[in-house]
Amino acid sequence: MNTIECINTRRSIRRFTEEPVSNDTMTKIIEAAAMAPSWKNTQITRYIVVEDKEIKEKIAAEATNDFNAATIRSAAAVVAVTVVKKRCGYERDGSFSTVKGDSWQMFDAGVASQTFCLAAHEYGIGSVIMGIFDYDKVAAMLEVPEEQEMVALISIGHPAETPQPPKRKTVEDLLKYK
Ligand SMILES: Cc1cc2nc3c(=O)[nH]c(=O)nc-3n(C[C@H](O)[C@H](O)[C@H](O)COP(=O)(O)O)c2cc1C
Repeated sequence: MNTIECINTRRSIRRFTEEPVSNDTMTKIIEAAAMAPSWKNTQITRYIVVEDKEIKEKIAAEATNDFNAATIRSAAAVVAVTVVKKRCGYERDGSFSTVKGDSWQMFDAGVASQTFCLAAHEYGIGSVIMGIFDYDKVAAMLEVPEEQEMVALISIGHPAETPQPPKRKTVEDLLKYK
């Protein structure tokens, strides 16, 4: 699959088969995600792969809505995306580099997450990024260290659906030249 085909055919997948994602495939996905660009190459994004059925069920039952709970229950694994705080967007003396402060860490986590999802797609693994959940509850369940911040969950597994792409805005809507 070439890059444009991978970008265009990736879909958010919310129904999965029971087949697990092998450690080998997971390693290859993270190797690709590690190649994502980041603020001053700070590489602050981290991944916690939750395969344990009890923890997965606890997240589904106690920390999100019914819609995301169904996705999490179906997924072979849920990947918690976290960032190491106080690096991205900062100067060495601890001051912010720009008026955007530390919001660059969310930017970097987004870049890394999309790279993760595209790599997963290349390896035949479906994924969906999920932002609607209780960050503090999930951070506590997964014992995310104090110096890291919970950003997103990505449900992954072998796809059991082939959704149509949701409608996109046109290039005319999106692009301006000056
Ligand atoms: C930051 C972010 C948060 C999202 N949160 C959720 C979510 O909580 N639950 C969900 O089912 N999908 C979630 N999505 C997936 C979007 O709904 C999906 O990307 C969008 O509808 C376009 O569909 P596509 O990914 O198949 O192209 C999220 C996507 C992003 C980028």
